[in-house]
Amino acid sequence: MTTQSLIIDCDPGVDDAVALMLAFGSARLELLAVTTVGGNVPLKKTTRNALMLRQIAGREDIQVRPGADRPLRRKPAGASEFHGEEGLGYLPPFTPDRGIADGHGVDAIIDNVMSRPEGSVALAILGPMTNLAHALRKEPMIQKRLGPVAVMGGARSEGGNITPSAEFNIWADPEAADEVLRSACPVVMFGLDVTHQVRATDARIARLAALGTARGDTAAAMMRFSQDVEKRIVGWDAPPLHDPCPVAWLMNPDLFTLKPCRIAVEVQSELTRGHTAVEFRVDPETAPHRWATGVQADGVFDLIAESCA
Ligand code: RIB
Ligand code: CA
Repeated sequence: MTTQSLIIDCDPGVDDAVALMLAFGSARLELLAVTTVGGNVPLKKTTRNALMLRQIAGREDIQVRPGADRPLRRKPAGASEFHGEEGLGYLPPFTPDRGIADGHGVDAIIDNVMSRPEGSVALAILGPMTNLAHALRKEPMIQKRLGPVAVMGGARSEGGNITPSAEFNIWADPEAADEVLRSACPVVMFGLDVTHQVRATDARIARLAALGTARGDTAAAMMRFSQDVEKRIVGWDAPPLHDPCPVAWLMNPDLFTLKPCRIAVEVQSELTRGHTAVEFRVDPETAPHRWATGVQADGVFDLIAESCA
């Protein structure tokens, strides 16, 4: 099995936590680093949460490096109503045995991409795109050397989740998303159009809980928290599972349907701040981006169960 070298940039976050359990447990990936960003909860908490999850998963061989604590220009936003005050739902915080590695998260991206073969390092962005925007400003060459940049963000046919027209990750730092999408980075975006097709049903959660492993228990607990809050706030019985989608695609691209496109982001209007305008009327050969439109959700949960076994 060929492995994909990968950096995960995230803001744990209950669905980030499931994505990390998916990655930490997979032989399909060579996880080079986990970088953190302020997003669902402040950077201090997203970084502590990444360290906690790394310890639970038994992967203290993977370095965790904190990145940006605020967006490029906007005030830091949060989404603790969907993730809990501490960011990991019902999981009580603890002090991890081991701490962060030396160096800023932005430099983790630059150093790994510049030191490895061109196109060999993929980046999965599961929160605001601030760290990659900073990395592009500091070392523009990475746009030509990065492998796939798989982003959880945006919305087209589904509408927004933080405002009627915008998804949280893009809305939180629209300038960062704009700079990344205007670069030559090969962005594949997994927006609400596809993540809303991946639902954490009781049966899927029970399958993970039945594994009897720390990773399975943690993934199940995160989904149960999402079930509770999404039922209360949105009225859904089965919450969508957003952040595992980009990671699952990197592990098995055949599970997803992608369309060539050009994606632009609203940065002017406050009403539509962070809206992703996804244009499919492009030349497939030269289209700069791809947008996920379909997914085999059972296949995603098969991967999660495989990683959590
Ligand atoms: O809109 C969903 C995204 O916002 C996910 O990445 C979730 O963790 C939150 O950051
Ligand atoms: Ca996230």
